[in-house]
Amino acid sequence: MASEPTSTSGERTLQLLVRQIRFEGKGINSYELVDPQGDELPVFTAGAHIDIHIGDGMVRQYSISNSPAERKRYVIAVLRDESGRGGSKTLHERVRVQDIVRVSRPRNNFHLVDDAKKVVLIAGGIGVTPLKSMAHRLEDAGIDYEMHYCAKDAGCTAFSAELEPMRANGRVHFHFDGGDPKAGLDLRRLLSEPSQGQHVYYCGPGGFMSACAEATAHWPAGTVHLEHFKAPERIVSESAANEPVDTFSVKIASTGQMIEVAKDQSIAEALDNAGVTIETSCHAGLCGTCKVRYLSGEVEHNDCILDDGEKAEYLTACVSRARGKVLVLDL
Ligand code: FES
Repeated sequence: MASEPTSTSGERTLQLLVRQIRFEGKGINSYELVDPQGDELPVFTAGAHIDIHIGDGMVRQYSISNSPAERKRYVIAVLRDESGRGGSKTLHERVRVQDIVRVSRPRNNFHLVDDAKKVVLIAGGIGVTPLKSMAHRLEDAGIDYEMHYCAKDAGCTAFSAELEPMRANGRVHFHFDGGDPKAGLDLRRLLSEPSQGQHVYYCGPGGFMSACAEATAHWPAGTVHLEHFKAPERIVSESAANEPVDTFSVKIASTGQMIEVAKDQSIAEALDNAGVTIETSCHAGLCGTCKVRYLSGEVEHNDCILDDGEKAEYLTACVSRARGKVLVLDL
């Protein structure tokens, strides 16, 4: 993995030094990434993630867990997922202290709103990473919040020592279910009565996300915020009246070029084959790297990150498809 250190300034991606790898819990390591010369890193906001290039063309997204007020390090935590696509295993096996890794600048699809009166953060397992960063930010800003961290047991929790002061002051609550979600946090009770100005943020594995979605279904629009770290089995636009078509075309607005997108191709792949390259990363509608503005056409979105306002303007070229014959892209 190692390569020569390179300055972080002005680069599209950053070459960062792995200064520390720490065992956090069963299967979980945290990685502290710093500038090789000790300079400040690009600013990030709570909820942001970075892409890490981990070799063999693999790029994975990991949320930054530390306080945005810390300007000289990004700390991520990685759960080794034996049944995953191999990114976490590779990271655990190959990346070592003193390696240089290539990472993107931070991006954020999971922002804290500015005007919340009270914030509830709910973490399922390794979904704690963006929420921990939010807890630091809310602490610093003096905004009322509570954080609930759900895990199987104490041995499976990350950042226990760092969260201890917030547990001691009554902000952070741990909930251990021993592997049986029914024995854990009662989400329905916790989220039964949203108060004026209250916002909830949650992140975790599939079953946990579904349970949180059910428990917040009655919350006012715009007060529920979530981030998936894996694409759900199937995401379908609820507003869609028609099925997406198999083959369609995208038109490049600036040149008029028409590019056909085959049934088994993404828009990003079709564009790339036609010599119009756009940046991609997760290929799963999770990171927002491939977000493109569209000017006309009906879109089957299929992503996990755009809100309704953004969907009216943007699509994600890795997973979105057309519901008609042509989409006109603002490229
Ligand atoms: S590449 Fe991540 S959303 Fe498309």
